[in-house]
Amino acid sequence: MYLDKKTLKIGRNDPCPCGSGRKYKKCCLHKGKQPSTQSTEELYFNSYKIRLKKAEDIEAIRKAGRLVLETLDLAEAAIRPGIATGELDAIVHEHTLAHGATPAPLHYRGFPKSCCISVNEVICHGIPDDRILNDGDIVNVDVTSILNGYFADANKTFFVGIPGPDARKIVSTARESLRVGMDMVRPGNTIGDIGWAIQHYAESQKCSVVREFVGHGVGFAFHEAPQIPHYGVRGEGVALVPGMVFTIEPMINLGKKDLKVLKDKWTAVTRDNSLSAQFEQTVLVTETGFESMTPYD
Ligand code: MF3
Ligand code: CO
Ligand code: CO
Repeated sequence: MYLDKKTLKIGRNDPCPCGSGRKYKKCCLHKGKQPSTQSTEELYFNSYKIRLKKAEDIEAIRKAGRLVLETLDLAEAAIRPGIATGELDAIVHEHTLAHGATPAPLHYRGFPKSCCISVNEVICHGIPDDRILNDGDIVNVDVTSILNGYFADANKTFFVGIPGPDARKIVSTARESLRVGMDMVRPGNTIGDIGWAIQHYAESQKCSVVREFVGHGVGFAFHEAPQIPHYGVRGEGVALVPGMVFTIEPMINLGKKDLKVLKDKWTAVTRDNSLSAQFEQTVLVTETGFESMTPYD
């Protein structure tokens, strides 16, 4: 989802998270005052608009996640030189409906298709159409399903035919970027730790991290609080607590980090036309670490 700078932290003039109705700067900002009468659920909602998930919610998101992975597998099986991205979208659409679910992208803020398909220099939000995949392309398929009212969101980048060295490099760096980000997910760590680990790894590989799109809370809706930037500073940002469910979905470029959005208002491409790859999973913070709701290696 698009980065929204306003919601990353509580402003001095924002309403105080303790629910007093006063400005934050006139209330709990000072004296390290802790709104201690609140439960963690209330604190996270009042402070950050984060809705923690209960056991029954988690089970429902896990089910939606299983369907998302099954759908990605089906799309993968169809990928070959000569297929159109619109044909892959049709597979995603049909499979989702056949399982009593709804494809979240369809008509979301005017998006016209049931998944996002992003080829080569397309960073994200590619619109499936009659574009034909060619040998050596890389293609990301991003699937979000709504099952029994619950959302799960995941994506993978696939090779079409035989990949060249640049394709191999960017896909492996993006896959590992998600992995190092997920490995930071445990109570006590912060959102900044996740972004830091991803940025540190991707840049060590001489690749760059897209800034304009971020991971996001998910489960009750497509895009919830918090935002999960894929860059950042260790120890900064909201502390992770059990029951948080969010995506991590680093977009990693072989060249520079800068992007432009095409005239269709959706397709984001690298400014320098370098390859871009992405992997995404929906993760739950547990007592001891994390559990993926859309687990894959
Ligand atoms: N699935 C994307 C994400 O990971 C969002 C796509 S929005 C759409 O957040 F409208 F383009 F589908
Ligand atoms: Co997402
Ligand atoms: Co997604």
